Amino acid sequence: MTIAFANVADARRLARRRLPKIFFDYVDGGASAEATLAANTGDFDRLSLHQRVLAGLEPRDLSTVFLGQRHALPFMLGPVGFLGLFAGGGEILAARAAHAAGIPSCLSNFSIASLDDLRRAGCAGPLQFQLYVLKDRGLADEFLAAAQAAGVETLHLTVDTAVTGIRERDARNGFRAATRIGPRMGLGMALRPAWVVDMLRAGRPGVGAVRGRAEFGANILEQAGTLSRLIDPALSWADVDRLRERWSGRMTIKGILHPEDARRARQAGVDAIVVSNHGGRQLDGARSTVSALPGIVEAADGLEVLLDGGIRRGTDIVKALALGASGVLLGRAYAWGIAAGGEAGAARVIALLKEEIDVTLALMGLSSVDELKRLGRDAFVDRDVFGPADRS
Ligand SMILES: Cc1cc2nc3c(=O)[nH]c(=O)nc-3n(C[C@H](O)[C@H](O)[C@H](O)COP(=O)(O)O)c2cc1C
Repeated sequence: MTIAFANVADARRLARRRLPKIFFDYVDGGASAEATLAANTGDFDRLSLHQRVLAGLEPRDLSTVFLGQRHALPFMLGPVGFLGLFAGGGEILAARAAHAAGIPSCLSNFSIASLDDLRRAGCAGPLQFQLYVLKDRGLADEFLAAAQAAGVETLHLTVDTAVTGIRERDARNGFRAATRIGPRMGLGMALRPAWVVDMLRAGRPGVGAVRGRAEFGANILEQAGTLSRLIDPALSWADVDRLRERWSGRMTIKGILHPEDARRARQAGVDAIVVSNHGGRQLDGARSTVSALPGIVEAADGLEVLLDGGIRRGTDIVKALALGASGVLLGRAYAWGIAAGGEAGAARVIALLKEEIDVTLALMGLSSVDELKRLGRDAFVDRDVFGPADRS
């Protein structure tokens, strides 16, 4: 299938046309007034890059090292829950698109496909898994064991969801409250027949990680509700220490936005920090991730730092790398791709961002992503655009 869209915003528009409103809003929306969601993208635009000419560089090397390996591109597909509801087999399609592009992808704890499903579907590449710690600690241990068995090499522990943010679009659509398909949801689905056919073909969805456990509910809507209620608001650094002891692979903490928390993460012995505000879906009024990045890189004191939130353009990725991120994670950008066109849609998003990074480096007079990383803040016209406080 060829998917013709020219940028990530186009993928979003296609996703809107293809998905029932309730699911498009779930992906697209943020918490409360969506101020942090807007800041995540808006703050990238505040950074101006230096244009440099006549550098005579061709071709460019976009590969770089993050999470312990050299990858073909400086970004990966981050954990996005329920991808399998945006296209049948969504998680598998995403993993395939990532693998074909030479980048990692991370399976969300709240996925339709399980790690085993991915392996069975022939996803041979390195796997990453994102973990939520539920009130039942035994379950976290079971998820860890499943991750170990599937050969997961990087575990992302998400810590910014102690309670679920207030998502007004979801509330309006009855997303959280629904335990079965009511007339309104049914009508929304009927308006998207291609999606319905795709879903029917994929079979009855459920959360892969809790498949066969009746206590989580009888269908995906009940399971989603139960799981979000079970995320433990009492999760503490002691749990991080405990998980660090139990997980021998690489481990990150995802959801750090404050330098103090970055320092504590360092003590906990994690391998990397993911600067994230959950794509503006949690604390509305929290700062943007890109504005938090410089202060966190400084506090991390050599510990690897990645970033997600608001990545819609290759230039956003270039800016995050110049501010000290080793790599970035995509969220909505590729989820829209999956919704717009399955594996081809995700591959198209990856290819577009790749091209944008390549052209950006060329116009900055740079020959590689590694050279950009070495250039650092000198990539920017104004080195302190977010102010000195960002480096405290
Ligand atoms: C629909 C959706 C579902 C998500 N599900 C998860 C999840 O299950 N686990 C997780 O750690 N983060 C989850 N996230 C957050 C993303 O990993 C990432 O932090 C965020 O999407 C980055 O912002 P962006 O979408 O603006 O790029 C989700 C985000 C979206 C949009």
